Amino acid sequence: MSISKIAVIGSGTMGTGISIASAANGVNVAMVDVSDEQLERSRGAAESFFKRQVDKGRLEAADADAALGRITRGTDLGAAGDAGLVIEAVFELLELKHEMYAKLMPIVDKDVIVASNTSALKIADLAKAIDEPSRFLGLHYFSPAEINPIVEVVRGEQTAQAVMDACSAFLEATKKTPIPCKDQNGFAINRFFCPFTNEAVRAMEDGLGTPAQIDRVSRLAVGAAAGPFRVMNLVKPRINMNALRNLEPLGPFYAPADALVALGEAEGLWEMGEDQSDESAEAVIVDRLRGATFLPVLELLDEEVATAADVDTGASLALKFGTPPCALMDQLGKDEVARLVGPMAERYGAPLPQSLARVGTLVSG
Ligand SMILES: NC(=O)c1ccc[n+]([C@@H]2O[C@H](COP(=O)([O-])OP(=O)(O)OC[C@H]3O[C@@H](n4cnc5c(N)ncnc54)[C@H](O)[C@@H]3O)[C@@H](O)[C@H]2O)c1
Repeated sequence: MSISKIAVIGSGTMGTGISIASAANGVNVAMVDVSDEQLERSRGAAESFFKRQVDKGRLEAADADAALGRITRGTDLGAAGDAGLVIEAVFELLELKHEMYAKLMPIVDKDVIVASNTSALKIADLAKAIDEPSRFLGLHYFSPAEINPIVEVVRGEQTAQAVMDACSAFLEATKKTPIPCKDQNGFAINRFFCPFTNEAVRAMEDGLGTPAQIDRVSRLAVGAAAGPFRVMNLVKPRINMNALRNLEPLGPFYAPADALVALGEAEGLWEMGEDQSDESAEAVIVDRLRGATFLPVLELLDEEVATAADVDTGASLALKFGTPPCALMDQLGKDEVARLVGPMAERYGAPLPQSLARVGTLVSG
């Protein structure tokens, strides 16, 4: 069954991006929000996006108009009634999402797929307000959702395989790359991306380099197209701090660095500083950024949150890591990865991941 109409509930940053990405690929979208003002802002954002596409020669004006015409907007949740898939993207508050689902349940048939774009809430907890929870799952788009090709497809405890498959097919039809994963904190991608940024902050705290310097060195560590401090400034350090707090139940390794908490609480941005060169410090930074990326990747492989191939696809496409972590570990070999991960695990009292034994064949095996 292919999905030709979706409803997107919440027309903020993510809902707007999801509606654009879907409508651009032939899907009809009913956008619903409680705020008329926000719906108008969302309309403006969609119009500017498609205008830019036309100005850059990526889209014919008629196709842009057709895509815009596929999005309807309103405050009546009843517009979701004939959608094959409902994607919820309201504020990240469990109770608010539960209240919204309670209103949605009488409106949609029991076989309509319902998804949440949550970053940090458990799919299992959200599913409690859904009749027939086997049709509920996470569809975690990355910002900017109109452009970023990766979407994590998060299986809840009760999600049916047919629902996972139908959503993956829908994503592929809208030119997204689905990454199936388990309902674990941080899912697959933030699980290692946030520690990577956190370790950059810890390296700065330890006086190893300035943000500008650490960003440059991150290219040597994992081939990062944009360094961790630059990315944190784009998404806002406060969001990064919250994402790490969501990972903290997994152990002290994941606790946000002091400087990140101070900046995040103050809603500030990183000052990049001068990019100085210091080869011996930079070798340490490379080791630490790699160790802090590899440890959570090996842990998530132990927990079967996602496959090594999917982790690498996500790292390449969502994060623009030139050398994605599993392929890089295979290339470096077991001894070198143990040298990088061992001290990191020891410092935070984390057990050595069993997947370390598979380094060398993580991707091929
Ligand atoms: N911003 C990101 O980078 C990002 C990335 C991935 C996932 N997410 C997740 O996506 C979800 C939305 O985040 P966002 O950044 O787009 O938020 P946002 O604040 O930009 O937008 C949320 C929208 O939901 C609307 N809303 C609130 N209650 C509603 C209700 N009952 N019915 C309909 N609309 C309602 C608000 O008016 C607002 O327009 C959150 O769960 C967030 O964790 C965000």
